[in-house]
Amino acid sequence: MSQSLATVAYLGAAILFILSLGGLSNPETSRRGNLFGMIGMALAVLATVFGPRVGPAGIAWIVGALVIGGGIGLYAAKVVKMTQMPELVALMHSLVGLAACLVGFASYVDTSIQLQGAEKVIHEVEIYVGILIGAVTFSGSLIAFGKLNGKIGGKPLLLPARHWLNLVALLVVIWFGKQFLAAPDVQSGMLPLMVMTAIALLFGVHMVMAIGGADMPVVVSMLNSYSGWAAAATGFMLSNDLLIVTGALVGSSGAILSYIMCNAMNRNFISVIAGGFGSGGGAPAAKAGDAAAPQGEVVPVSSAETADMLREAKSVIIVPGYGMAVAQAQHTVYEITQTLREKGVQVRFAIHPVAGRMPGHMNVLLAEAKVPYDIVMEMDEINEDFPDADVAMVIGANDIVNPSALEDPASPIAGMPVLEVWKAKTSIVMKRSMASGYAGVDNPLFYKENNRMLFGDAKKMLDEVLGALKG
Ligand code: TAP
Repeated sequence: MSQSLATVAYLGAAILFILSLGGLSNPETSRRGNLFGMIGMALAVLATVFGPRVGPAGIAWIVGALVIGGGIGLYAAKVVKMTQMPELVALMHSLVGLAACLVGFASYVDTSIQLQGAEKVIHEVEIYVGILIGAVTFSGSLIAFGKLNGKIGGKPLLLPARHWLNLVALLVVIWFGKQFLAAPDVQSGMLPLMVMTAIALLFGVHMVMAIGGADMPVVVSMLNSYSGWAAAATGFMLSNDLLIVTGALVGSSGAILSYIMCNAMNRNFISVIAGGFGSGGGAPAAKAGDAAAPQGEVVPVSSAETADMLREAKSVIIVPGYGMAVAQAQHTVYEITQTLREKGVQVRFAIHPVAGRMPGHMNVLLAEAKVPYDIVMEMDEINEDFPDADVAMVIGANDIVNPSALEDPASPIAGMPVLEVWKAKTSIVMKRSMASGYAGVDNPLFYKENNRMLFGDAKKMLDEVLGALKG
């Protein structure tokens, strides 16, 4: 394939990636978005493998790597549960970071690249910065993976004078950067490069260890952004325009997503990165899943009573959360929705931006169950409607409906916008126990006078409710 044909293919792939991102911004167009992304990536891989920079000997290596990597990816995608998706994503980000480091070292020792003067300096800066971002992304993503799957505790690790430590690390990295650029040959440049890599790896570990469990969603999306910048840096090292464009798209969309999530949790981006959330100031957060100390009486209800309340309601708002995903109750939820709608009840869904364990988690599950998009509302669209709802039915959600976020400035989740279900005439919370949610925070909603608790696995309880509604 000639250079000009490869460039045209790259341009086409870049356009497809932009269309893909546009499609992914809405559940209705997300399938098409995914398809554009897949076609774009296939085009990019083909244009690279058959492009002018890969010789016939290289193709065999690349095909071998594609088969092994593609096989592992296919297997991982097939076995991963929906609730483990953030862990898989974190692991994949770590691979992008690792790739940026390896490409950086390979470009540095590549004797076929003979540059002089300003070009040499620019190339070395690209290598240094690329390895720096890649190493931070690599180790930070591995720690995020460990925290998300519970192998590493969610509690923030706060070293004394940690901001000073970070500042000193930055100054040392700049100093070694100067040494690296001044090095007359590859042998003498290798030491500063390796020291910087070690510091960047430690920084990635330190940065993510200092971040509390409740802020992990923002961290994963921030690491997504870093992985994009690492890929863009790799693109500069390899003079590959498509990698630069793609990396910049991932980097900027990850940064925008982090910003949106910070807003949804009322967290300041800088304070998330600075770490320590959930550790100081307010009441200490319990371990997620721990039973909360009783703060009053709760009123349990049966599934038959729940069905009666739903049947008599004019307007019902359903709030799905992580527990619906665990129980895989989305199909039964939709059957209940259809049954109620046939009886003339208005049913809508209220989606919190960080419900579940990944952005769009609830939207994906509801789309899978074929819930029509026009009754699935974002938090801002529906929060004011709770006072007009007869029943707010909370299915396996906890933190996202916790009134202490608004009412208790000492709460570890103070300031996070939540779905105000307690303003409905009656709220029903469906969960298995009194255990806390992801943030490990007690929930005063459970003790409110107009709240009822339907204890049990969401799928089992909803099956019973459906049976009672139909019976
Ligand atoms: P959570 O606050 O984690 O609460 C989920 C509740 O579901 C738990 O209290 C649990 O109570 C219940 N549950 C678990 N399995 C169940 C089952 N089989 N049947 C019925 N209930 C079940 O979830 P949420 O309200 O969706 O809030 C999300 C939280 O995760 C937020 O703190 C958010 O910051 C965090 N987070 C979000 C993301 C993204 S991007 N969405 C990523 C990582 C973390 P029982 O054990 O008593 O049943």
